[in-house]
Amino acid sequence: MSDIVERLSKTKTIDSLEENYRAESPKSRAYFERCSITMPGGAKGAYFYTPYPLTMEKGEGCYLFDLDGRRFIDFVGHHTTQILGHNHPSIIQAIEKQIKLGIALGAHAGVEAEIAETMCRRVKSLERIRFCNSGTEATLHAIRLARGFSGRSKIAKFEGGYHGSHDAVEVSVAPPLDKAGPAAAPASVSGAGGASPHAAKEVVILPYNDEVSVKRLLNDNCNELACVIFDPKAGIMTLNRNFVQFVREITKELGILLIFDEIVGFRLSSGGLQEIYSLLPDLTTFGKLVGGGLPVGAFGGRADIMSLLDNTLGATGFFQSGTFSAHPLAMAAGLATLEQLTPEAFDRLNGLGVRLYTGLRNLFYERGIDAQVVGLGTVFSIYFSNKEAVNYRNIATADTKIAHSIFHALLQKGYFLSHNLTMNSLSLALNESHIDGLIEAMRQAVNEVF
Ligand SMILES: Cc1ncc(COP(=O)(O)O)c(C=O)c1O
Repeated sequence: MSDIVERLSKTKTIDSLEENYRAESPKSRAYFERCSITMPGGAKGAYFYTPYPLTMEKGEGCYLFDLDGRRFIDFVGHHTTQILGHNHPSIIQAIEKQIKLGIALGAHAGVEAEIAETMCRRVKSLERIRFCNSGTEATLHAIRLARGFSGRSKIAKFEGGYHGSHDAVEVSVAPPLDKAGPAAAPASVSGAGGASPHAAKEVVILPYNDEVSVKRLLNDNCNELACVIFDPKAGIMTLNRNFVQFVREITKELGILLIFDEIVGFRLSSGGLQEIYSLLPDLTTFGKLVGGGLPVGAFGGRADIMSLLDNTLGATGFFQSGTFSAHPLAMAAGLATLEQLTPEAFDRLNGLGVRLYTGLRNLFYERGIDAQVVGLGTVFSIYFSNKEAVNYRNIATADTKIAHSIFHALLQKGYFLSHNLTMNSLSLALNESHIDGLIEAMRQAVNEVF
């Protein structure tokens, strides 16, 4: 097929997939139109996809049900938080128990100590921990601590790394490639309208998987850098184990604090990604599953750094609080989640992951399709590209139109993945038949789209 004919036939597939979608989801459409009157764009940023997003009415185990009564097998898990599936009885019980004791008491509620102890027991580098409401807050406070402790103001982050929505980290998250500068010395590109124009100047951008450039950039800036914030993007990018360990070693060698962002990665093992990569960061940020599906964030690490928040020592000049931080319901739901995440549970989840990623890779290979299946533990992403997903720039050139068509084709077969096919996740509510079902649905989707 010539290029133009191929492109036109693909466009037709997208159009007909979206046409079916409209026909099958009138109630979601009506709901979206209603929301658009009072809320800008009708949906929060991450929820929007064309032609309009589905509205889900309920979740149960591995299933989601939309307003039009259709059932989907969920491979997203509310941005990766729902590792036990939806409405797991142990979480419901824990929330009900806490509700009866009081929803918000304006004081410590006993359950916070339990989850703090559980986290510190599971994660080797955690000597102290604090809870907040979101991953965004967690990275904000961790960076403040790093700045305060080191007395330096610049931070370094990786190109393509997402650490929440505040000025310091909304830099070079998804920079346009024509503004991104040289690959070995990426430009610092502010991505948030309204962010302080000074924010991007305080951030050194590092390229993933490029030891030589990272070493040079850190060496050049080490006297000004408070920290490197690093998410190894497990299941989103293919990061070499040696590279992850190198980041720890070079930061230690240069006296730069390392903040490890485990807001997604903590779902990969009892002790988090740092256990998998055998390293001890100075500070770590958490979120997502730690609240069992309720709003949460947490940050912690070395006792000497965390002691800046110890008000019993007198005025340290540091403060972290928040009306809803460590909300008792989130603490109870998070603790109930952690209790289910035994080594056996992780073995089962990892087994499902291997089955899925192998099946998908074989399928794309047999069909001669340029696709990258990145999967580690329970997180996976699919890119339609012949470039390995080893850095932001390779991922940024993947074919998003094909991904969008595949997303719609899978929806029509009852499989709910993230709308750009990145950062999907597995839950304990899934079994082998769901995994094999997704591989088969992908086979059919590929036949329709390619
Ligand atoms: C790696 C990472 N860090 C930070 C955040 C921000 O967390 P939140 O959305 O809870 O603010 C996210 C959210 O997806 C994330 O994936």
